[in-house]
Amino acid sequence: MNTPLIAINLKTYAEATGEKAVALAKLCESIDKEHIALACQATDINRVSSVGIDVMAEHVDSAKQGQGTGLVTPEAVKEAGAVGTLLNHSEHRLEREEMEKCIERAKENNLSIILCAEDDKEAEEFANLNVDFIAVEPPDLIGGDVSVTTRPELVSDSVKKVKAKNPDMKVLVGAGVKTKDDIVKALELGAEGVLLASGVVKAADQEEVLNDLVDGL
Ligand code: G3P
Repeated sequence: MNTPLIAINLKTYAEATGEKAVALAKLCESIDKEHIALACQATDINRVSSVGIDVMAEHVDSAKQGQGTGLVTPEAVKEAGAVGTLLNHSEHRLEREEMEKCIERAKENNLSIILCAEDDKEAEEFANLNVDFIAVEPPDLIGGDVSVTTRPELVSDSVKKVKAKNPDMKVLVGAGVKTKDDIVKALELGAEGVLLASGVVKAADQEEVLNDLVDGL
């Protein structure tokens, strides 16, 4: 996944499930397949990946293949066409031990990882883990209309703290991101992209919003 990155998390939104996820993926592919990646439900990875855009799982479990009814293995999402996975999203938090097992299992399968952190302190704690991106998302702004970039110190402190520990780690920010201006601000503050959901998924005109966002890169 290239930077600057616009990672769109489809969550479990009805507007981005099944064939609607495919339609959105086609739109993203036609607008900027180099810089947009989608995280979708495990059940949609196969059909969305056939569109030809980078697709991630929203989560993988640490379970090995075999006796693990209902769990989602890294092998399975890889085989379905995913190139990566989100982990530890605010809506799917993991205990540290389980998180490290998930990271190890995802990396055994060469999946790129976006590891979510709730603030700059947590981002710093995660800086040396074997992941590709740390995405800082303040939980109170998720799903709302106020962008994470209205907290500029949170963005710049996260970047500063992570890079001080690991200059190679890439930092994304998310929550409330909806416009080109939000992306421009995030990049100005040192982030290498954004993680967003409702701004695109719930938009009345997804194409218009995507064009505006890509304009900010
Ligand atoms: O993973 C993205 C996310 O939690 C942010 O959601 O709707 O505020 O863009 P949203």
